[in-house]
Amino acid sequence: MSDFTSGFWAMYVSVITLLSILACALLLWMTGKVKTVANSTTTTGHVWDGDLREMNNPLPRWWVWMFVITIVFSLVYLVLYPGLGSSPGQLGWTSVGQHQAEVDKGNAEVAPLYAKFMSMKPEEVARDAKAMAIGERLFMNNCAQCHGSDARGNKGIPNLTDAFWIHGGTPEKIKETVILGRIGVMPPLAAAVGTADDVKNVANYVLSLSGSPHDAARATKGQEKFAICAACHGPDGKGIQAIGSGNLTNPKTWLHGQGEAHVMAMVNFGKTNQMPAQGDRLTEGQIHVLTAYVWGFSNPAK
Ligand code: HEC
Ligand code: HEC
Repeated sequence: MSDFTSGFWAMYVSVITLLSILACALLLWMTGKVKTVANSTTTTGHVWDGDLREMNNPLPRWWVWMFVITIVFSLVYLVLYPGLGSSPGQLGWTSVGQHQAEVDKGNAEVAPLYAKFMSMKPEEVARDAKAMAIGERLFMNNCAQCHGSDARGNKGIPNLTDAFWIHGGTPEKIKETVILGRIGVMPPLAAAVGTADDVKNVANYVLSLSGSPHDAARATKGQEKFAICAACHGPDGKGIQAIGSGNLTNPKTWLHGQGEAHVMAMVNFGKTNQMPAQGDRLTEGQIHVLTAYVWGFSNPAK
């Protein structure tokens, strides 16, 4: 109700609400005024099926009192709770407030548990069965939609269970990724590399780094141009975690595709890939447990 931009609609709704209640009271009062005596002769004169007569008896007492109670109830309700136009009600109740109170209560109940986890190192949390059960649920609710319920990733989304990390696999780096999110940006570089032939050559050089099928003559020609790539992917092509450039020497870890056509497409069109920041969505304790949960995949208990 408080979403109205002008006071008019709040007034309009209030007037209709109050008029309806008043109309109910009036109806009750008017039907009560008509004096009818309860006996078997006060019929309305309507007869159906030969002998089915419609009677005109007074309303039963209990029914009248129910009616009165509903009217009184509605008025008391409108005073206490929001309902009359934009009036907030005397109790100040809101559905948002009620939800927040329930969330606060839930958080207060688990606070001691999270306080215990926070006092432990992620490496220790990863060995705590209770923490890992919580971690699994947090992962299913917040991460699985992208990384998959088995955390093995998808096209464009990294596998979190292997030993390869784009941004770093230490608990500190994982936590940083989860809190701040990550954006991997590879700009289109065709113009910097040169002709379409140069792009094909450098792509073959990249494929040669991993011993993938490639054209050796082109790879040799493309090596020189790889200096442009080395700025971000490192001179050996193994990637730089601070930049979030993947490892070009291990195509199994590539996110977006395979083979010559894929490398050429990356050079021609570039790519922007984003992991959304979770710092505002999850509590510090939840992120701590999630960090341990994710770290645990590639560091199982010995
Ligand atoms: C909207 C999809 C999406 C969601 C939700 C998401 N991620 Fe990601 N995540 C990504 C993408 C995409 C990347 C890769 C970013 C890049 O290319 O640099 C990524 C990267 C990561 C990495 C870095 C992997 C590496 O190799 O360095 C970690 C760790 C991670 N996510 C954990 C999580 C956790 C934990 C959650 C849940 C709290 C989560 N992600 C939720 C899409 C998502
Ligand atoms: C400005 C930095 C930068 C430069 C220069 C750069 N890259 Fe990249 N490259 C990246 C980043 C960052 C990613 C990861 C994108 C992502 O997060 O998915 C990437 C990803 C790739 C991938 C995709 C791997 C996959 O996961 O599918 C290929 C292939 C690639 N680069 C090839 C090249 C080649 C070849 C060159 C040189 C012509 C080059 N890059 C130059 C930053 C760079």
